[in-house]
Amino acid sequence: MLRTHTCGELRLTDIHKTVTLTGWVQKSRDLGGMTFIDLRDRYGITQLAFNTNWNSDLVEKARSVGREFVLQITGTVIERENKNLMMPTGEIEVKVTTFVVLNSAVTPPFTIEDHTDGGDELRMKYRYLDLRRNTVRQNLELRHKLALETRNYLDSLQFIEVETPVLIKSTPEGARDFVVPSRMNPGEFYALPQSPQTFKQLLMVSGFDRYYQIVKCFRDEDLRADRQPEFTQIDCEMSFVEQEDVLQVFEGMIRHLFKKIKDIDLPPLPRMTYEQAMREYGNDKPDTRFGMKIHDVSSLVKGKNFKVFDDAEVVLAINAEGAAAWTRKQIDELTEWVKRPQIGATGLVYARHNPDGTVKSSVDKFYNDEELSGWAKELNSGTGDLILVLAGPETKTRKAMSELRLEMGNRLGLRNKDTFSCLWVVDFPLLEWNDGDPNLLASLAGRWHAKHHPFTSPKPEDIALLSSNPGAVRANAYDLVINGVEVGGGSIRIHSSELQSKMFEILGFSKEEALKQFGFLMNAFEFGAPPHGGLAFGFDRLCSLLGGADNIRDFIAFPKNNAGRDVMIDAPSEISQEQLHELRLATLPLNKSV
Ligand code: AMO
Repeated sequence: MLRTHTCGELRLTDIHKTVTLTGWVQKSRDLGGMTFIDLRDRYGITQLAFNTNWNSDLVEKARSVGREFVLQITGTVIERENKNLMMPTGEIEVKVTTFVVLNSAVTPPFTIEDHTDGGDELRMKYRYLDLRRNTVRQNLELRHKLALETRNYLDSLQFIEVETPVLIKSTPEGARDFVVPSRMNPGEFYALPQSPQTFKQLLMVSGFDRYYQIVKCFRDEDLRADRQPEFTQIDCEMSFVEQEDVLQVFEGMIRHLFKKIKDIDLPPLPRMTYEQAMREYGNDKPDTRFGMKIHDVSSLVKGKNFKVFDDAEVVLAINAEGAAAWTRKQIDELTEWVKRPQIGATGLVYARHNPDGTVKSSVDKFYNDEELSGWAKELNSGTGDLILVLAGPETKTRKAMSELRLEMGNRLGLRNKDTFSCLWVVDFPLLEWNDGDPNLLASLAGRWHAKHHPFTSPKPEDIALLSSNPGAVRANAYDLVINGVEVGGGSIRIHSSELQSKMFEILGFSKEEALKQFGFLMNAFEFGAPPHGGLAFGFDRLCSLLGGADNIRDFIAFPKNNAGRDVMIDAPSEISQEQLHELRLATLPLNKSV
């Protein structure tokens, strides 16, 4: 090694030792006779001291280096005169005797500090420099620890990690595939896996019994703060289990991770049905750090000649505790907020529950005091609270109310990143009607779509409804939700080829199509498939939650931006005519918009 110690480990107990350190120049200070350099590596910062009285040549050398130069120095550990107790190494410094510049550096495009002056795009372009910053490095350290603890936990329960291929055939998980042309099979394409779903099920047929993999998955979908085109799953599958077994094992894993990473003892995770989550939170991934549940007040408010409510399919309300003192201006601004196209409400009705106990609404013309007190009673509102009401079509209004609830949670400071509220959402519907989801291929519109994926088992008691009322069939499917984020999801699988064929039929696949796409799985099921089930966690999402950040990008070493680009290596990029020709793609129009 070119060093004897790291820049983060020397203390008062090391005084008089001769040490060799390597690292990058964080900053240098020239105080005339004395020069100081802060030398940084992954482990910390150590102050190097130079003095003209000790060695004027070394002071000259020290003065000549700039930020981010790479140095190797040897010297003696001495006690500092001006101690900095904010730094772990702040009580010592190294009196330098040998000084080697291992490499020079041009001035970095932004400061390598916790509060950097670099904007997002610039830091992405020079991600390798951004990764030198403490905050980003710590995020990756947390990711490493989380992966290690995941492996420890699963290994202790006899799960084995098996790698599955990356060049595969499309598995429909709800998003579009990234595809890779095959040179050796002209005109044919591999797809990158949206998840290893079918492979892990095949491993169960093979008898592996308990599988996991920390694995890259690829989905060509619209990006958001918690979505990347390539992301990582902790993917798991078990044989001879029922839903309860899967929930127990993975609740144990989440508890283990919270304990090891955050030293938090989680309480047993509550369970909520999909139906309850939609009704009370307007959302299948409820943020349960705070209450403010949604109440359907339709029957209470209709029939009083207020046309907006009378004409609405549904009228929904929430109670924002302590917000009665909000000014007219604040409420007007909130009204503009709900009217934004992303939220889509047509307006906002409110009622203040005043300190004197009276309830005054923005629609007092239509509702008398007694009726308004009835609203307050329904919502359990107390004095000082603010009732907010939205009306309109059921699905749209519930969604808008869910957004408003979350926004009020933000504005009232109820969504603290250091508080964790975890739950299982269970009993998802098996199917969903696709009336033109932009994340799906247009050809899939106007038919049933698997809410989770086509391999999910219906609840046995609902199988009879498959033909008569597919929309009412519930699945043995579950999601793990933490602080309003879907962190994981899975299901008990279909393990009979007959039921699987029936499922493909309901999803609108002809027999031939189903065989062509999934024949391998249905064939495998003929050879003794055990009952099995599992789930997958979004590893990046878990990291960002435990790290207290919103954007999963901060926990990925080399992420893509919102346009799906890696701006550092400049990908995606065009390929040469020769490559296109070899891949038999050269005959395609080269116009980028095609
Ligand atoms: P699902 O599609 O629910 O299930 O994915 C599992 C988890 O992966 C995370 N996730 C993502 N994270 C970042 N960026 C994305 N684009 C992204 N998409 C999904 C979420 C999600 O809960 N094969 C099934 C699992 C199973 O049934 O066992 C599957 O992939 O946290």
